[in-house]
Amino acid sequence: MSITLPALSPLLKPSFIFGVATAAFQIEGANQLDGRIESIWDTFCATPGKVLNSDDGSVACDHYHKWQEDIELIKSLGVDAYRLSIAWPRLMDQNGDINPKGIAFYRNLLSQLKAHNIKTFVTLYHWDLPQHLEDEGGWLNRETAYKFRDYAQLAATELGPWVEVWTTFNEPWCSSILGYGEGIHAPGLKDHAKARQAGHHILLAHGLAMPVLKSICPNALAGIVLNMSKSYPADNNPSSLMASLLAEALDNHFFIEPILKGSYPDIIAALKPELMPEVKTGDMDIIQSPIDYLGLNYYTCNHASWHPEQGIQTILKSDSEVEYTDIGWEINPHSLFELLTNLNRQYALPPIYITENGAACDDHLIDGEVNDEQRIRYLDGHLNAIDQAIEQGVDIRGYFAWSLMDNFEWAEGYSKRFGLVHVDYQTQRRTLKASAKAYQALITSRASHC
Ligand code: FCB
Repeated sequence: MSITLPALSPLLKPSFIFGVATAAFQIEGANQLDGRIESIWDTFCATPGKVLNSDDGSVACDHYHKWQEDIELIKSLGVDAYRLSIAWPRLMDQNGDINPKGIAFYRNLLSQLKAHNIKTFVTLYHWDLPQHLEDEGGWLNRETAYKFRDYAQLAATELGPWVEVWTTFNEPWCSSILGYGEGIHAPGLKDHAKARQAGHHILLAHGLAMPVLKSICPNALAGIVLNMSKSYPADNNPSSLMASLLAEALDNHFFIEPILKGSYPDIIAALKPELMPEVKTGDMDIIQSPIDYLGLNYYTCNHASWHPEQGIQTILKSDSEVEYTDIGWEINPHSLFELLTNLNRQYALPPIYITENGAACDDHLIDGEVNDEQRIRYLDGHLNAIDQAIEQGVDIRGYFAWSLMDNFEWAEGYSKRFGLVHVDYQTQRRTLKASAKAYQALITSRASHC
């Protein structure tokens, strides 16, 4: 089974970037080594009932020790780029001073990637806030935005020469809404109005960091990564249409509209005024700092209806109508096409990278092989949807499969496998799945197309 694109697809041009992605907490392990301080995810994992099977990030994929082997793995896939994140708790100590061992780890990693000609897409914040900042209110405290700016300055100064593309934040929706609203991610609070305030402070932090990154690293690109979902009305009831529009406003536009237009969506002010954050004078000017690119993470869509008391309800379609991945997310590549073309109509978009896309599958390692046929179909469908969106005029410059390898999947622990590469957590052995080989074959096939 292979991934097949049209012969003249723009994705097959040498300028289109193919990559794989990971995040620090999900792969590094060594969470008490070499001066790394505690993060909110260490605390969350240690809180009973928060993470499936009480899994934690103490070992993960042991990437902190196996990083050289992992670079070889990345290289063997033939990808152009690697998207990784830096752990704030590894870079700075409690007083905001530099941790030399943390810097050394990332310098070695990034310089080796560069030596192998692999472009580095580096995220500053993939959810691992230092715990001591959470103790002072975390993202509910406006001051955290300024602390983030200092951290961005330190990272850019120390690691800038090895970074091609900076990302301030990965998925502010997850950090704010899942972390402070739903309580299913760290720090585990459940207050939706506060969660929106946390979201505003994260956007503020992003806006404060952008000029810092641009001035210290004028040759790098800088931007943000947002996760988005396409919402459809669950049925023909007009209230379901309204629910789907409100869902997209809360999930997508709440985060992109301030950056590209300097406002929060009117529909939220009209229908959910209690969720409007407090915005201080000047905040929107900071948040609107121009971005060089927008990273989009896309996995699935949802179907919304309206309940008079509970508000937006999302339903799953019956199994016979659609296919789901092992984490229960609907597979619907066409929804990615629709999301991209809609965004392109609604905004003056900067160039786009699809910074995450992939599937959790019920993988089994048998006789040294993982035949993850569903993941190959998933990648094939979504890459073809991107091809079609580019044909419709959306400026998409690259694609990153989530993930390089199986890893710590947040509240699901190690139970869900998203990797192109299988990880045996007992032996730490890495094995290329069939999807890794299909991705590799697609990437190497470009040579014969250009
Ligand atoms: C995204 C996260 C990433 C990973 C995937 C499955 O929301 O950015 O770390 O967990 O989902």
